Amino acid sequence: MSKIVGAGSLIVDITAYAKHFPVEGESALGSSVKIGPGGKGSNQMTAAFKAGADVRIIGKVGDDFLSHVLLDHYKSTGMSTKYIDIVKGEETAAALIEVNEETAQNRIIVVKAVNELVKREDVLKAEADFADCDAVLTQLETSMESILCCKEFAKKYGKPFILNTAPFQKIPNELILDTDYVTPNETEAEFFTGVHIKTQEDAEKAAEKFIEMGAKNVVITLGSKGAFYSNGKEKIMVPSIKVQAVDTTGAGDAFNGGFATAIASGADIKTALRFANCTAALSVTKKGTSPAMPYKDEICAFYEKTYAEKLKFN
Ligand code: RIB
Repeated sequence: MSKIVGAGSLIVDITAYAKHFPVEGESALGSSVKIGPGGKGSNQMTAAFKAGADVRIIGKVGDDFLSHVLLDHYKSTGMSTKYIDIVKGEETAAALIEVNEETAQNRIIVVKAVNELVKREDVLKAEADFADCDAVLTQLETSMESILCCKEFAKKYGKPFILNTAPFQKIPNELILDTDYVTPNETEAEFFTGVHIKTQEDAEKAAEKFIEMGAKNVVITLGSKGAFYSNGKEKIMVPSIKVQAVDTTGAGDAFNGGFATAIASGADIKTALRFANCTAALSVTKKGTSPAMPYKDEICAFYEKTYAEKLKFN
């Protein structure tokens, strides 16, 4: 079994479902509210775990009642909590999410809170797990020093470093330089490159800019259009798969978790993109983020049905 390690956010998602998004000043009547485990880091690690990888997240929760939502999730799915700290006197992070039931689209306000306290020293404690892992996976919801330390270990031990540039914010140039896989969505890609992405040609231009910045491989997720890959020479467009979507929140996390699992397992790039695409497509057919991540059997069956070929990695 391949192993994936990285600093990552642990956030409780409070999600309200309604027939439309309220405008400013409006109280829209919703149909339900769900409280569940989320956070880009935790969602991606959950997706990777359910897709067949062993995972170690380096993260923090507070010592309040919300922390149980996350800790219970780790316990019930069987994921390791070895590097999850419970910080005395701190509040667990939360995200307020609205989902439009007509379109399955979402809007999110996320407060990083205790996730900002995930520091370099926390990552240092996990060095042994970096040394024998198969891929390092991070996003931008913990402190920059923790992310840079993950990259440092990935380079030290020769492991693929996957950086999901979400949520977008200013980052130092050194983070992109020599990064093995940068995986922005189209909004993040525009933020970092200045290229407004509407077409595949735009995605190609944005990918070129990332490569000029020093990224080795770029995967731009394009929502309902799919995902575009480039390493400067090879270019692959993977169209999204049509499914009955009920909640698109966390689809990017599902993609990254599936992608990291495939890369960690030694899959070729086309297979990894397709596996990620299937993971994301299945995740939007269920409500919630981490709880909606599909298991490996389901992804494999869907992959084989969609692409009429057997998966080429274990
Ligand atoms: O990508 C979706 C995630 O973003 C949610 O789970 C929320 O916690 C925010 O971090």
